[in-house]
Amino acid sequence: MSSIQITPVAQPINSRRNIGAIATNVDVNNLTEQDWKVLHDGLYTHSVIVLKNQAHATPKAQFELTQRFDPSCSAYGHGKTLDAKRSILHPDLKTIPHQPQVQVIGNGFVGEFEGLRNITLKHPHHKTFHKTAIPDAQDLDFTRFYRWHIDAALYDLHPPRITSLMAVQVPKGRTQTLRYDDGSRDELQVPLGTTAFVSGYTMYDILSASDKEFARTTQVEYAAHPYIWMSSAKSRSTGLGLESDGLELPAEELPPIDDLKIMKLPMLWKNPLTGKLALQIHPSAVRRLHLKDGSVVDDLKVVRDMVYRLQRPGIAPDLVYCHDWEEGDLVLFNNQGTIHSVVGAFAPDEVRVFRQCNLASSTPPEGPDSAPHEAAWAQPLRTYAPGKGTQAADQAAWMKPMRAY
Ligand SMILES: [Fe+2]
Repeated sequence: MSSIQITPVAQPINSRRNIGAIATNVDVNNLTEQDWKVLHDGLYTHSVIVLKNQAHATPKAQFELTQRFDPSCSAYGHGKTLDAKRSILHPDLKTIPHQPQVQVIGNGFVGEFEGLRNITLKHPHHKTFHKTAIPDAQDLDFTRFYRWHIDAALYDLHPPRITSLMAVQVPKGRTQTLRYDDGSRDELQVPLGTTAFVSGYTMYDILSASDKEFARTTQVEYAAHPYIWMSSAKSRSTGLGLESDGLELPAEELPPIDDLKIMKLPMLWKNPLTGKLALQIHPSAVRRLHLKDGSVVDDLKVVRDMVYRLQRPGIAPDLVYCHDWEEGDLVLFNNQGTIHSVVGAFAPDEVRVFRQCNLASSTPPEGPDSAPHEAAWAQPLRTYAPGKGTQAADQAAWMKPMRAY
């Protein structure tokens, strides 16, 4: 019998939102099998679970808890793609030398943390990525979703099942008004530096019957080397995908492309516990749509407009869970059933330190028509054994500390 209690977060009155829960009485350094089952089922029921008071949890414990959701995996979700300096993810993540699947993210100067010395973290600001920006004079009071995404390399490596995020140091908060700036007048009051989550299950549930049928039968092809490919492109004001101004890098300016590594994934991904379907698309990285009749939508603007029309209702203000971070919060989220976004802008002296971990999955996400796979928690825990072929060799390379950027 586990002592862990899972309590859904309070939802606004008349809200359609169905995401988020708080887990109390947890010690991730000492989890029993029953504890693990409670966390597993809580995660796949509520999509985001907040484990309170885990400041003592080590990077190793964070990695091991993350790995337990996908026991045969041990390599970071982006593999070595982060190493490419042209990747838009490159400046945002610093690797913990003794636990290279765990990245440090945040804001401000940090003298020493987990073997990293004299690092300067930078919370990404929407003005570096959006086509338009909130004027500087309003920047402390107003903000935007930076970039809605799934944590995934989307080239060569399968999307991680879950991500864990640990709040080590959190600046004391003010609130900001988040604007969508898309003509809708939608806005949200958000805690400073919140992380915003929406449920892919709700995003799917609120579609029309014909859009559900379209989503069930459509495959999404992602760009090769997507984070380099999109590095010159600019985002919509909602952070939900890119504007189409022809700024993506052509193939000859990308690293060599192996067609076998290009990701083509179902538009709907199945929850391994409940069987529910989530609309799961990384809107910035999408390149083509493969339709039921075998035709391919290749025009990038058309592709993006189709995806945006499907996803935009799912980020309506009443559907967004904005986590108000406290130090010691360890958040686990179902990366195959949610999309999420960084939010907010910090001053340079507002120091924030987070640890993030996710692992490239051993298997692609379950599509709408595949049989449920064996529950992840029931799988035996396997340890990584290097030296068993090319893939293992690649992974072994990434078990070594990556250089700190
Ligand atoms: Fe993320």
